Amino acid sequence: MLSRKQQEETKEVARRVLEDNKYEVSFNEILYRRTVPSKKFYVHQWKWDSATHAMGLIHLDPERAYDELRSLFAGQWENGMIPHMIFNPAETKYFPSADVWGTGHHARGEIITSGITQPPLITKSVLYITEHDSDKERAGRFIDEVLDKLVDDHAYFKKYRDPKDMGLLTIVHPWETGTDNSPRFDDAMERIELADIPDRVKDLNKRRTDIKLGKAAHRPTPQDYYRYLYLVDLFRQWQWNYTTIIEQSPFAMQDVLFNSLWYEANRCMALLCRKKGRTKEAETYEAWADQTKEALLTLWNPEFKQFIDMDVAKGRSVMIRENTNAIFLPLYIPDLPEEILEGLLQKLSDPQEYATSFPVPTTALNSPKFDLMRYWRGPTWPITNLFIIEGLGRQNHPKAKKLQENIVGKTLAVIAEQGFYEYYDPTLQNYQLSNKHKDEKALGFGSFSWTAAIFLYLYHNYIVTGEK
Ligand code: GLC
Repeated sequence: MLSRKQQEETKEVARRVLEDNKYEVSFNEILYRRTVPSKKFYVHQWKWDSATHAMGLIHLDPERAYDELRSLFAGQWENGMIPHMIFNPAETKYFPSADVWGTGHHARGEIITSGITQPPLITKSVLYITEHDSDKERAGRFIDEVLDKLVDDHAYFKKYRDPKDMGLLTIVHPWETGTDNSPRFDDAMERIELADIPDRVKDLNKRRTDIKLGKAAHRPTPQDYYRYLYLVDLFRQWQWNYTTIIEQSPFAMQDVLFNSLWYEANRCMALLCRKKGRTKEAETYEAWADQTKEALLTLWNPEFKQFIDMDVAKGRSVMIRENTNAIFLPLYIPDLPEEILEGLLQKLSDPQEYATSFPVPTTALNSPKFDLMRYWRGPTWPITNLFIIEGLGRQNHPKAKKLQENIVGKTLAVIAEQGFYEYYDPTLQNYQLSNKHKDEKALGFGSFSWTAAIFLYLYHNYIVTGEK
């Protein structure tokens, strides 16, 4: 447990990280104020990072929280999709850069974006920041300003990503889940033969900067990148037409993490609509949330005692069983059936699987795919901890409460004692590391905005107010 002094000091560092990563840029003669994930490498705007940044910023500077989301909405495509990245044209540090995507015909004037999306966290962010703004009139005006944009965003997901109306969205690139190289994509991605990838696409990898600015051992492998860029290249050839992409992409998955957040987004959307007296629409979103809940429950596999994903590329229907922390995201569904809840709590409590010294690793410790340092294949990430913490709070079970307290306490402690990194070694024994050790153990990029925002969010919700 952090002392009061440590809490205050770490809050102050979080404020400075978010301040230092503030980025102002003008498009179409409007000045946008956004936060980049880390000036060391991630120098553009990312969708699910920014949605989270706003949830931290509301506790520091509400106007900045609103501006963060305004800047995201500014990149929304005509078809409703909010892309996963909005570029800062003056920045060249990050690869893949805007020219790789070829999305020019979807640009809003000068605003250039990537061509895929990320988890639908923005609806939750709008609900959260407006509920935590003490100026209720301002909050109400902001909902009025963005509600129809959210309607378009949800309509995009429903129309293009769930064309058969099954309640489950399809993602077409691992980057869309934000958990890029998670083992749950291995089998489906390996179906793409490296020999089929043109040299022109493989050559793009020479421009990778993450392995030069950061450590190669912490990042996805070259083979991962060939396939990532191959998909981008294909979609670009199809001119980012999502009807074609969904039908023909060699990679397409109904992913448990993405769909649990879709469930949550519809629940939040219903609440926003009710606040504005838009009852009929609220009922639609409630129905969508229910439909996704039922569909998610069918992905529970009693034999494996875990949720599974579905590989649905080109009409396939292949079950994917990987023991990653995505299986905990359905905890967002309140009062899960007993068998499921017991199964998940058991895994979270098992030191062989997820009860490591700094939980919750992105892949179970005893999985053959576990990799201590490599991005989403083992390290503990604050963002997935946040989802699991919230999900545990929805469950009426004493064990859930205890696990929740443990994860909150350890997440805050590791951030306070190690610093604001992108991800962390889940097997850390002593969070207070010597400087030498810190350098070995700190993972990914530092001064990371997501981690700063999550610290503030957890601090305000679980330490200050004691909310669940
Ligand atoms: C990495 C992460 C992704 C995140 C982005 C910016 O690509 O995998 O989830 O949104 O960095 O922080």
